[in-house]
Amino acid sequence: MGLTAGMGDAFEQVRTRWQAEGLVDDLLADDPFEQFRRWMDQCLEVGLHEPEAMVVASVGADGMPSARHVLLKELDHGFVFFTNYESRKGHELDGHPKAAVCFPWNLVSRQVRAVGGVERVTVEESDAYFATRPRSAQIGAWASRQSEAIDDRATLEAWVAEAEACFDGIDVPRPPHWGGYRIVPVEFEFWQGRPARLHDRIRYEPAADGWRRERLSP
Ligand SMILES: Cc1cc2nc3c(=O)[nH]c(=O)nc-3n(C[C@H](O)[C@H](O)[C@H](O)COP(=O)(O)O)c2cc1C
Repeated sequence: MGLTAGMGDAFEQVRTRWQAEGLVDDLLADDPFEQFRRWMDQCLEVGLHEPEAMVVASVGADGMPSARHVLLKELDHGFVFFTNYESRKGHELDGHPKAAVCFPWNLVSRQVRAVGGVERVTVEESDAYFATRPRSAQIGAWASRQSEAIDDRATLEAWVAEAEACFDGIDVPRPPHWGGYRIVPVEFEFWQGRPARLHDRIRYEPAADGWRRERLSP
């Protein structure tokens, strides 16, 4: 039995269509952010689950990389996500502010990769986004010591109860250890699966007058 047997395939039609169409040079946006937005919009249109989930890879002080999913919350001149600054990724991104990002849209045979520098978003941006989160998620941000070992689930639930008691009847403020990062790409790659593994790969890199793009061998 294949690994994907029995998983259903709601995206077969769209995947086949996009594989047949490929990446046509003349139709690509000059700006990779614009190209990314087009693909994100198409993922949303066809109902792909959580297309905003991206894998972010960081590097530790010992040079060991680590990767995890986070959710893209804003796209301006970079990819913005929110997390705990005291987590493993927080320490790694602060200590070595460079990251790789991958949007694994494998169900529709597409992938976007980027690498770039990392900066913390402003406290105003973090405050504004934190205020939009459900109260339970706000409490969770206080309760979780993300990436630390804990004795058991009951310990976590006790910390949640503590945070709930602490903020009973009042708005939950943003914890100082919680906020956003922005990954500012210096390279993008758009990958479109094609038949016979002759995939289309287009790389964008900064140029004097914007971005230049080139085709990579699959
Ligand atoms: C689909 C998905 C989305 C996630 N989004 C976030 C997120 O936006 N922020 C976050 O801190 N963790 C998010 N997580 C959890 C992380 O993958 C990870 O477990 C956590 O951030 C701790 O990572 P670290 O120990 O490398 O810092 C998400 C996980 C999944 C599977």
